[in-house]
Amino acid sequence: MTTAYIGEATSRVDGRAKVTGQAKYAGEPHVANLLYGYIVTSTIAKGTITRIDTTEATAAPGVVTVLTHENSPLPPRRPFVDEAGSPGITFIPLRDNRIWFSQQPVALVVADTFERARYAASLVRVEYKPEAHLTDLELAHGDAYDPPWRRLLPPVPAPRGDAEKAFAASAARVDAEYRGPAEHHNPMEPYASTVVWQDDGPLIVHDKTQGVKDVQGYLCSLFNYDDDELRVLSPYVGGAFGSGLRPQYQVFLAVLAARALKRSVKVTLTRQQMFGLCYRPFAWQRVALGASPDGRLNALIHEAIQNTSRYEHYCESTVHWSGMLYRCSNVRLSFKLSPLDLTAPADMRGPGAAWGLYALESAMDELATALNMDPLELRLRNYSEKDQNRNLPYSSKALRECYKQGAERFGWSRRKAEPRSTKIDGALVGYGMATGVWEAPQLTASASAVLTLDGRLTVSSATADIGTGTYTIMSQIAADVLGAPLSKVTFKLGDSSLPKAPVEGGSFTASTVGPAVHAACANVRDQLFGLAQRVPRSPIADATPSDVIFDDGYIRLRREPTRAVSFEDAMRNSMVNEVEASVTTRPDAKQEGYGTYAHSAVFTEVHVDEELGTIRVPRAVSALAVGRVLNPKTARSQVLGGLVWGIGMALEEESVIDQRFGRFINHSLAEYYVPVHADIRDLDVIFVDEQDDVVNPLGAKGLGEIGLVGVAAAVANAIYNATGKRIRKLPIKLDKLL
Ligand code: MOS
Repeated sequence: MTTAYIGEATSRVDGRAKVTGQAKYAGEPHVANLLYGYIVTSTIAKGTITRIDTTEATAAPGVVTVLTHENSPLPPRRPFVDEAGSPGITFIPLRDNRIWFSQQPVALVVADTFERARYAASLVRVEYKPEAHLTDLELAHGDAYDPPWRRLLPPVPAPRGDAEKAFAASAARVDAEYRGPAEHHNPMEPYASTVVWQDDGPLIVHDKTQGVKDVQGYLCSLFNYDDDELRVLSPYVGGAFGSGLRPQYQVFLAVLAARALKRSVKVTLTRQQMFGLCYRPFAWQRVALGASPDGRLNALIHEAIQNTSRYEHYCESTVHWSGMLYRCSNVRLSFKLSPLDLTAPADMRGPGAAWGLYALESAMDELATALNMDPLELRLRNYSEKDQNRNLPYSSKALRECYKQGAERFGWSRRKAEPRSTKIDGALVGYGMATGVWEAPQLTASASAVLTLDGRLTVSSATADIGTGTYTIMSQIAADVLGAPLSKVTFKLGDSSLPKAPVEGGSFTASTVGPAVHAACANVRDQLFGLAQRVPRSPIADATPSDVIFDDGYIRLRREPTRAVSFEDAMRNSMVNEVEASVTTRPDAKQEGYGTYAHSAVFTEVHVDEELGTIRVPRAVSALAVGRVLNPKTARSQVLGGLVWGIGMALEEESVIDQRFGRFINHSLAEYYVPVHADIRDLDVIFVDEQDDVVNPLGAKGLGEIGLVGVAAAVANAIYNATGKRIRKLPIKLDKLL
């Protein structure tokens, strides 16, 4: 009998294709007569182009055309808002002579080879009329405004109680400011689009994206295509982390050029150019906490100011979490934006929560110090039994168990409350912890399933696998419904011609596409059952669905498994070659009555060498409550990635602007630091049991973001415990500790 796959540690079904190079990425398709586009970017941060001279570039060897705002008219556009888009103006390159940010695309040179295009790009002469730019968030605070809110996100919760008054009356108080730098996603695969021109067929767009349907909608609306005239493919994505949630400018430029030339065109970005694309915004935050002497929170104020661009209002749910993570009756939350002369920020793993929980969980640690109370005990005393933002019960919340199991595994009880009390090999030792929380929504998605006579099951949905394991978990779900071995299941994604699914992001893919895949396969199973009952002398003619099991190509009587009908006989008897189903699943109305969230408790140990200023993280434990874990192997990998990322966020990651030029200057992997192997030691991941019958039909919560959220605070808190120094600005590099 085939065993169930859901819940089993299953290796990636796309692993072999990836490690053998058979998986093709957006910049890799071999296309006849391909042209190469190279983007010229602005050298100023703000102003206008007064003259753009392409004569020399156009005359260079191999050059076919040079597109600029002067020769790239667009057809009249139809209205379109991309899924992750913000209110404001969507940036579209080469529209006019206005410069919004440094590294803005100002021309596309198209030539017969990449090298010739790149060389000719150096010959494009651009003259500007610069204007004074502002790219420093600290200097822009005065311009901060309440933004129009994003469609995807709930608005900032309204105040409750009187936070200022309660704060003033509290016995223990913490009031602190926290700062975070911009950070860039830096996926391994750079941005790329290969557009295949066909004289008598649709435009084929190979694009690096987290949402093929979204990119299709965007391009169709900008260039006036119908859906069947433009197809977007993105079967493999070499990391994205949110940077591919929105259509990026290279795909626009590649389509623009392909249309103008009626030729196939590829446009790829260099690593440096990707620093002009999107990033996690700068964040300034203030958290004020007031508590009674026994540690009960009376007052919570959380204010955030983040930057956006001049053309759109990019908001995040930075402060929302503070209204629900701990029980408190007097809460005031505020989120404002300051416009800077930069490209617009974008969602990056745990958007909002990554900054918000860093500040809240640092402030909670400071409050524990002020109260002379264990930080874990403080959190338990303020444990929230309902989502106070919406006054709803939780569909499930095993956070207490996360605290307990995480603390035990880590050895939290050995923590010394007094900073500077332990040294190992000359280094100060500190323990720190923090809580993480992320939402667990189900969205609407469609999927189709087809079973053929050979017993193969092909399931499709236009979702993505950005490295998170979508191919694998969807195959597991499909295999289980039909009792098929995994080897007989093919899951297809990353193709805009497949049934519609949202962008892959927000940790909602497992809980959104999973139920659609399940329902489509269940529909096929039910049809097959009906066919099998019609077979002459069928042993299951009088059986009900619960009387049978589906097992490797057979429908067997549960109580007498040798009596069975094969899938093939069932289909042949009714003269069908395939059984097919297409379904759309939507969240159940009962979800409306609950707060649905994933939780984590993160514990870290740091060693600080004060003479050198070096910080090491020898171990970290993350205990998570994420509902049902569909695949413990890929799930653990997601959390390991989050822990590594969180350590980098605490200690290394920072995109630095040279304010004179308004430009990110550490724009390479040599100067943008992320953890390397030597930085990462023992990481431990615990999934606690969490049963959830409400969150979605699978009971699984997504776990893309929850692995990261809270980790940076746990590290910063451990550094305080080691050194007695409270560093409230990330990253905590050695100069801040010396
Ligand atoms: Mo993630 S920021 O939802 O790709």
